[in-house]
Amino acid sequence: MTLDGVAPERFRQTYGTLPTGLVRAPGRVNLIGEHIDYCGLSVLPMALDRAVWMTFRARDDDQVRVATIEPGYEPVQFAARSPIEPGPPGHWGNYLRAGVSTLLSAGNGDGLASGIGFDALVATDLPVASGLSSSSALVVATAVAAIGAGNGGELDLTDAATRLDLAGRLAAGERYVGTAGGGMDQAACLLGVAGCALRIDFGPLSATSIQIPTDWALVVAHSGERAEKSGSAQRVYNTRTEEALGAVRVAWRVLGAEDRDGAGLESYRELLKVPFELGVVSRQMDGALGNRFTHIVSEARRVGEAASAVEAADLAGFGELLNASHESLKHDYEVSTPKLDALVARAIGAGAAGARLTGAGLGGAIVAVTHGSELDRLVDALADYDPFVAVAADGAESWTLSTP
Ligand code: GLA
Repeated sequence: MTLDGVAPERFRQTYGTLPTGLVRAPGRVNLIGEHIDYCGLSVLPMALDRAVWMTFRARDDDQVRVATIEPGYEPVQFAARSPIEPGPPGHWGNYLRAGVSTLLSAGNGDGLASGIGFDALVATDLPVASGLSSSSALVVATAVAAIGAGNGGELDLTDAATRLDLAGRLAAGERYVGTAGGGMDQAACLLGVAGCALRIDFGPLSATSIQIPTDWALVVAHSGERAEKSGSAQRVYNTRTEEALGAVRVAWRVLGAEDRDGAGLESYRELLKVPFELGVVSRQMDGALGNRFTHIVSEARRVGEAASAVEAADLAGFGELLNASHESLKHDYEVSTPKLDALVARAIGAGAAGARLTGAGLGGAIVAVTHGSELDRLVDALADYDPFVAVAADGAESWTLSTP
């Protein structure tokens, strides 16, 4: 179905010629480590076997044209020339512009940009606006198509260092849409490894794959509430990033570090190297700020423990960490909704070892983990919420299509 949406014949009907390339950019499900990537703290997502797919063909001019069969998304056209002006806030074309714009602005002297346009057709089997990173997958797909069309100079995506570099650039580049996101989504999309969770560390960016025990089953289910990262959820998301920054500054002062320079006062990674009592520090902060701080610090600790639990195939331990993460996101970070809470409770009631909202929250999906032998029971219990088994996939790829 998905490939149908970007099929060469459909491309020809749209643009009058056949495509020369195909891109797959996966979504991701975050297993744990929510709302802490923008604090520079490690997270544990995996790339999904559901993706944004794009067929494309380079043009002779600098125009980028992108169309989709997905209902409600009109075709987009803009010139691959810096600066690329954004479309209206929340418009899907801004993710396309972000992908191309990142490559162009990376071109100051290092040969990334060439202003080559391309035509593209896009489709997805990822639920959109559901916390599974369809938007970052779209940004990555656009950038990979642009590279395939010739905007990438010597960029070689089979090179691991190039992928890492591109993930970092696209994370920064996606802020073009107005959301102050961290770097988890783009990294998961580009660095995914089949069968594995990814421990993503920041500063410098790196990804370590951890094999997911084959007798575990991960299930994603949708609350039915849309969580638009560049729409309704954006204000809350950006407020949280500011609160996170405010909290770490207060924490350093509470710990008597006024003499650190400005940047040092903003580092969670450095802060977590210092021994301190979480409750003692958070009580020095104004109500909500203390709660935000409690979530961030406790979630960072849970990520480390969860990575160990995956390695040790400790399903019960991993599940408890997921549950604790959800409670923290609900009470301390205030990004859950009654529907997400109900879905988490339903999953646990159906024997899941653990469940939590995944992604930015404020709607979207949950992820639940269970033993493979309990999978049917869990899927049945979530049947009204579009459940699917999350399979960990490799990162984004592109292929050359031979034209007859
Ligand atoms: C969105 C952002 C990510 C991350 C998550 C919450 O998906 O794009 O960078 O902050 O929310 O963990």
